[in-house]
Amino acid sequence: MTSNNCDAVFERLWQDYAVITPDADRIRQLLTKKDGEPPKNDHVAFRTWNIPPVDLESFARGIETLGYRRGEEYRFEAKKLRACHFETDEDYPKIFVSELLCEEFSPELQATAKRLAGGADEKLKDAPELLLATEAWPAVSYDEYRRLLDESEYAGWLSAFRIRANHFTVAVHELKTIGSLEELVALLEQNGFELNQSGGVIKGSPEEKLEQASTMAAEIDWKFADGVQSIPSCYYEFARRYRDEKGEYFPGFIAKSADKIFESTSGRK
Ligand code: NI
Repeated sequence: MTSNNCDAVFERLWQDYAVITPDADRIRQLLTKKDGEPPKNDHVAFRTWNIPPVDLESFARGIETLGYRRGEEYRFEAKKLRACHFETDEDYPKIFVSELLCEEFSPELQATAKRLAGGADEKLKDAPELLLATEAWPAVSYDEYRRLLDESEYAGWLSAFRIRANHFTVAVHELKTIGSLEELVALLEQNGFELNQSGGVIKGSPEEKLEQASTMAAEIDWKFADGVQSIPSCYYEFARRYRDEKGEYFPGFIAKSADKIFESTSGRK
């Protein structure tokens, strides 16, 4: 695939994401007005089951055909996730993909995951189209969603929202008129946006070369197999990277910060 395909993929991902994440669209407009141009994306993140054809390895091969290479791998013990980031020398955001280690959960969750993931079109395997598979499996019932949610917030979200951008991320270090994450957080709070407080509003530190914050996902009306319900959707993330000794931005992620960011799709308290 050529870079034109990357433009098309990210455009479609944003269009879908902006509709179900109204705060992200509003914040992007706010920053565009302030900076005179849209903010750059640091990374786009996906969630999935560790079951083919939608598992992380299948994502990896699809993403590699877009000209990306594999970055670091991450493990989230408590949430039972494995993740990997992908990067490119071209001016496109990193892609962060995590997968749920289904075998570490109850037989009921495993059976549901197998039915949903296993029912996805085999053509999605190893294909970049997997990134856009918003209809990868049929809508679940509200009761199925609630049961998964009780066991794993991640599994609940994934069952209902399927494969789509879980979050986009503003590259704070690329903003023209905002010099720090603290300044951006203050601006967002002044404008009434609710931020994830888990582990403090700002996760990470200059020493770790990465600071992150995020909004809390807002509740939206979502279509289940048995009707519409109001549930938390996606969040918007803000990442400030620091340069290393060689003058290059730190390219990775900090697992303990990401662990807290994951909680941004939990219901607002
Ligand atoms: Ni992220």
